Amino acid sequence: MRSEDLQAAVTAHWSARAPLFDGVASHVAQRDRWRDVLEAAFQAQAPREVVDLGCGTGACAIIAASLGHHVRAFDASPSMIEAARAAARAPGLNVEFKVALIGDIPAADASADIVTLRNVLWTLEEPMAALRTAHRLLRPGGRVVVSDGLWSVAPHYRATYAPEIAARLPLHDGLTQIRAERMLAEAGFPVAQGWQHLFPASPYPGDVPVFVLSAVKP
Ligand SMILES: C[S@@+](CC[C@H](N)C(=O)[O-])C[C@H]1O[C@@H](n2cnc3c(N)ncnc32)[C@H](O)[C@@H]1O
Repeated sequence: MRSEDLQAAVTAHWSARAPLFDGVASHVAQRDRWRDVLEAAFQAQAPREVVDLGCGTGACAIIAASLGHHVRAFDASPSMIEAARAAARAPGLNVEFKVALIGDIPAADASADIVTLRNVLWTLEEPMAALRTAHRLLRPGGRVVVSDGLWSVAPHYRATYAPEIAARLPLHDGLTQIRAERMLAEAGFPVAQGWQHLFPASPYPGDVPVFVLSAVKP
């Protein structure tokens, strides 16, 4: 399967899930906890330029906007972007949502203070390239915030990708904090700090080990 066809299948998967996504989402069920954890991870004392990559229905984007930041958010799936726009409209938040692949984000280099990637690395064919995109978008001193989990410990909670698609996603089983820290270092973020201890328990059903890391671009 060509990469373009793989991405089309991944995008179609999320477009099909978009209308129901927020009904099962941790960021909706535990909105206040996610807000507290992301606020801590952002380490921002004033409004910042935030870019959310693979924003889905706007989990990080909407929290960042509610904290007073200026937010641009991108996702491959038009249906996800549509759902995100509706979710931001309800509380009257102003977020720039656009359909775009992480490999082709229409934003200038060094134009962001904070870049977020939540639960996106596991569903990419080239997760390292996504971290390099975050590095490109950040100004020196800017901060990437990455959250994901070891989804394989809760099989009922995983995506239902066809086997030939799952086999092409190197992190399909999820990832540990240590692996994410190594990847961040390789992408140019040498020191990462964890924030998941601010959750009283895993915010995902099945007690999935989760991490929320932030790391500064030197
Ligand atoms: C598990 S959802 C996470 C959504 C959101 N970040 C959250 O935390 O709820 C993964 C999202 O990544 C998007 N996605 C997958 N591949 C992408 C790519 N190459 N570029 C941009 N978005 C992508 C999907 O459309 C989907 O909305």
